[in-house]
Amino acid sequence: MTVKPSFPAAVATDAVFLHDVRSGLGAGRKMLSPKYFYDAAGSELFEAITALPEYYPTRTEIGILDERGGEIAALLPEGAALVEFGSGSTAKLRRLLRHLPGLAAYVPVDVSGEFLAEQAATLRQDFPDLTVAPVVADFTQAFILPEAVAMAPRAGFFPGSTVGNFEPAEARTLLERFGEILGPQALLILGVDLVKDSDRLEAAYDDAAGVTAAFNMNLLRRMNRELGADFNLDAFAHRAVFNRDASRIEMHLVARTAQTVRIGGDGFAFEPGETIHTENSYKYTLESFRDLAARAGWRSQKVWTDKEALFSVHVLRRDR
Ligand code: TRP
Repeated sequence: MTVKPSFPAAVATDAVFLHDVRSGLGAGRKMLSPKYFYDAAGSELFEAITALPEYYPTRTEIGILDERGGEIAALLPEGAALVEFGSGSTAKLRRLLRHLPGLAAYVPVDVSGEFLAEQAATLRQDFPDLTVAPVVADFTQAFILPEAVAMAPRAGFFPGSTVGNFEPAEARTLLERFGEILGPQALLILGVDLVKDSDRLEAAYDDAAGVTAAFNMNLLRRMNRELGADFNLDAFAHRAVFNRDASRIEMHLVARTAQTVRIGGDGFAFEPGETIHTENSYKYTLESFRDLAARAGWRSQKVWTDKEALFSVHVLRRDR
């Protein structure tokens, strides 16, 4: 079963990939979109990341869902439909489903139709009373909920701190959009990683076994393989730093030496130490996330953390 964060990793053609690479590497500050992480190799590496000893978010969130599932369920009206924005893996959903016998329907939303169909089939087997109504869509764009849930009260589910992979202004727009899609009175259940000491954060994105490094470097492999680029993998290094002012983990690929990389007839020059910025993972406090949600039209209903306050699960209610 594929595991990936719910980031919309839309399947791009080589031409689109090449175009994005050209503009990203041609910029003053070189960058690439994180959506290109998730080819088959990248998705496998991501799955390995979620099991790493240093990568606390996945297991901590699952722990909160296990422990607090009953309390979360108590907030959901009987006969509700649960809409998951980007269905990464069903592991977290299954945690919730245990506590939600009254759930009428589950609506996974993902850009990969094949992935959704596979997921829906196993869920229908395991939960024969649950209506599974997948929607093939990029959840960052508007889409319409299936007819099957037209009359049901709605709750959204957005785990994995994927909200942190968006710029705060984009995250706000995204949460507003979720509100529009879900409608009045909706609830939203979100997993949000918390600000903490830099060492702990940086270790989670730069593990001792080098799996996150391999995941980041896979972007270079992909450009070599799919675009005929000539990146020398030994000439780049993975770096994860917590930028406390911006409250985000930044992932970069750092050029170890001065070099020029050829891609599709163009040359991209790197100075020693120059980086390609590949991803941000914003970290919030309970308050800063509540503020963001409030500005997007959501009121905090309840929030839980683990004992160490590493990670949070928020339940929000739409207030417009
Ligand atoms: N949203 C999660 C996070 O930011 C998962 C994730 C997305 C991730 N991209 C990643 C984890 C890159 C490690 C590396 O933590």
